[in-house]
Amino acid sequence: MKILVVGGGGREHAIIMKLSESPKVEKLYCAPGNGGISRYAECFNVSATDIPGMVELAKKLAVNMVVVAPDDPLVLGMVDAMNEAGFMTFGPNKAAAVIEGSKVFSKNLMKKYNIPTAGYETFTDSESAIAYLKQQNSYPAVIKADGLALGKGVIIAANEEEAVEAVKSMIDGKQFGESSSTVVIEEFLTGPEISVLSFTDGNVVVPMISSMDHKRALDGDKGLNTGGMGTIAPNPFYTKEVAKECMENIFIPTMKAMNSEGRKFKGCLYFGLMATPKGVKVIEYNCRFGDPETQVVLPLLNTDLYDIFEAVYNEKLADIDIKWKNECCSCVVMASGGYPQSYPKGIEMNGMDDKGQVDGVFVYHAGTKYENGKFYTNGGRVIGVTATGDTLQTALDKSYAAVKSISFDGAHYRTDIGKRALSVK
Ligand code: AMP
Ligand code: GLY
Repeated sequence: MKILVVGGGGREHAIIMKLSESPKVEKLYCAPGNGGISRYAECFNVSATDIPGMVELAKKLAVNMVVVAPDDPLVLGMVDAMNEAGFMTFGPNKAAAVIEGSKVFSKNLMKKYNIPTAGYETFTDSESAIAYLKQQNSYPAVIKADGLALGKGVIIAANEEEAVEAVKSMIDGKQFGESSSTVVIEEFLTGPEISVLSFTDGNVVVPMISSMDHKRALDGDKGLNTGGMGTIAPNPFYTKEVAKECMENIFIPTMKAMNSEGRKFKGCLYFGLMATPKGVKVIEYNCRFGDPETQVVLPLLNTDLYDIFEAVYNEKLADIDIKWKNECCSCVVMASGGYPQSYPKGIEMNGMDDKGQVDGVFVYHAGTKYENGKFYTNGGRVIGVTATGDTLQTALDKSYAAVKSISFDGAHYRTDIGKRALSVK
């Protein structure tokens, strides 16, 4: 099988490494890919959102399968275009990807089908939004742009001033263009966060091993929100009881709700959850593998990923027994100085071998470039240094030992990934 993976971050690197373990996979391609991925798969300079360009590339390479990994091409309908062109494709179609593409859609879906989530209202003009904030007078307030906003569309406002500013810049200032012309204002929830990625073909939903992201830029969950500074798996807050509650109240109801709406979801459905004192609630859905969750989940998978992708496409997922390793995994992200705000690119990296690796761990490349035998930074999140171990502590020790051996000017990483998980007895 020849497979084209669309995307170019750490998540795509992890998908490629897992697919490369399959005896059925003969050749892997990636577009646009990155420096690290290029050492394992042939990369092509086609942007992940260029739908006609990507279809053309898939035709030229005569691939047997296309995996669309990032949110934007999914929401834009790349899977529909690939299916039309006759390619077996992994990922939801446009109608189903709206579960991530519009917060208003997903919140209304949860309300309609009684799926637990934070209470909310939606607004398209700032005056009514501000009036609502004043009337509620409850802080922190959570303000979300309706559409995709590079993971930056959620503001947790500590007081009225911040909330009003957020609403004004989103709706009136068009901070995220059309994505923020509608906003959702929702109730602030508390509790540990749990990420559960699942495979679903619309008939069954199979949760993967649970994980925990660390979204803030700095230690102690301080600083700005980022795409994710590190992950661990499994998540100790995802106990057997919590898993059962999620399956009954969230996972199956969501799959059925999408079917009832005529939006059958086939692909990886990501549940962003919070274990609140009043039960588990959905914070968000993503229509794709999480990043950097994938980097700690897929290394623990003990079943052929190609077989799973094919089964999802053929709606035969129930026939596959998906198995996991009884181990822990950790991923520590090394980011460019300045991330998630502005940061330099093109800085030479040291401490990795010619495949961009370090002994004893696996380095997933997120934003690197490979030139003349050297790696250079080429993004905000640069690499995810990942290790497995019998315990979470062992995995983390290995990740951090490797992080210390890699260097580039301005490199910044959190030193407390997994700390909250380790505190769970
Ligand atoms: P989202 O992009 O919806 O996942 O939101 C980004 C982050 O904001 C989440 O991972 C949470 O940490 C936080 N967040 C989102 N919604 C809420 C909420 N209703 N209450 C508390 N925190 C939230
Ligand atoms: N790490 C969170 C996400 O992929 O959206």
